[in-house]
Amino acid sequence: MFKRSVNKLKPQVLIDCDPGIDDAIALVTAAKYTEIIGITTVAGNVPLESTARNTLALCELLELDVPVHTGAAHALQGQLVTAEEVHGDAGLGTLTLPTPRKAISSDDAPAYIIDSIGRHEKLHLVALGPLTNIAHAIQRDPNIVHQIVDLTIMGGSAHGIGNITAAAEFNIFADPEAASVVFSSGVRLNMIGLNLTHQVQMGLAESKRLASKNTVVSRAVAELLLSYQTLIYAGNLSKTVPMHDPCAILAVSHPELFTLTHRNVTVETNGTYSRGLTLVDERRVPAESNCRVAYEVDSKRLIKLILNASMI
Ligand code: RIB
Ligand code: CA
Repeated sequence: MFKRSVNKLKPQVLIDCDPGIDDAIALVTAAKYTEIIGITTVAGNVPLESTARNTLALCELLELDVPVHTGAAHALQGQLVTAEEVHGDAGLGTLTLPTPRKAISSDDAPAYIIDSIGRHEKLHLVALGPLTNIAHAIQRDPNIVHQIVDLTIMGGSAHGIGNITAAAEFNIFADPEAASVVFSSGVRLNMIGLNLTHQVQMGLAESKRLASKNTVVSRAVAELLLSYQTLIYAGNLSKTVPMHDPCAILAVSHPELFTLTHRNVTVETNGTYSRGLTLVDERRVPAESNCRVAYEVDSKRLIKLILNASMI
């Protein structure tokens, strides 16, 4: 079903993120399998100040010498939805990283996104948090949607699966208006939603392997995993946790391991109970497709790739 990939060139990526425990594991994964040209941060799992600090600290942990730009501290309509109950107050669970030596390069993520797209002709945009920075960039320069190879988001879900509400996934719910701008922009869009990421779970077996590897990075990822389990399942370590953001990274670096289908997706911005829902039209007569939705994945292979990236 899934072809093995050979002699892979690393795709060039610009990552927008809200670290965030799974964002942190995604950056570890991206450092191994992609060429990261830069990182932008957005408020999401925790406020912007924390996502920025965490990103700088993770870059130093990974010896990633890339520019980090901060962006939106709240959604397009001004709201701020966070998830400290899942990621901890500081955003990385119990993991404490040294205070970063480097500073952010600017506080204008949309400008950096637009400028980077103009300077890299084969750039993949990857969004791991609320889509506010991406929406701002598209509103400032709509032409960027035609210049990037594609935009891959961890966000939304097929089949109405929610996590922050019964209907909505967190990244979309945090800024539905931004998501609506993105889904209607004409960008080549890959949606890696909860229906996909829930198929890729890690837990105690993996964190024990990482801890026994006993390197700075492997111990950090082991602690991030344990924190995730503790925060989501109140310490029930028999439960596994979904690797949301690493799936989006691997959809760019290892697309052969995923099955995506052209679909028309609408973002609900008004519903009392359904705000933030991504309504995926799966009727046989396909409406005008505005994105590709991920449905299947070689889960075992993805877990091996995440572990391989973490054991450095
Ligand atoms: O719903 C999961 C997504 O929301 C992940 O990207 C997680 O980091 C949070 O941003
Ligand atoms: Ca995230």
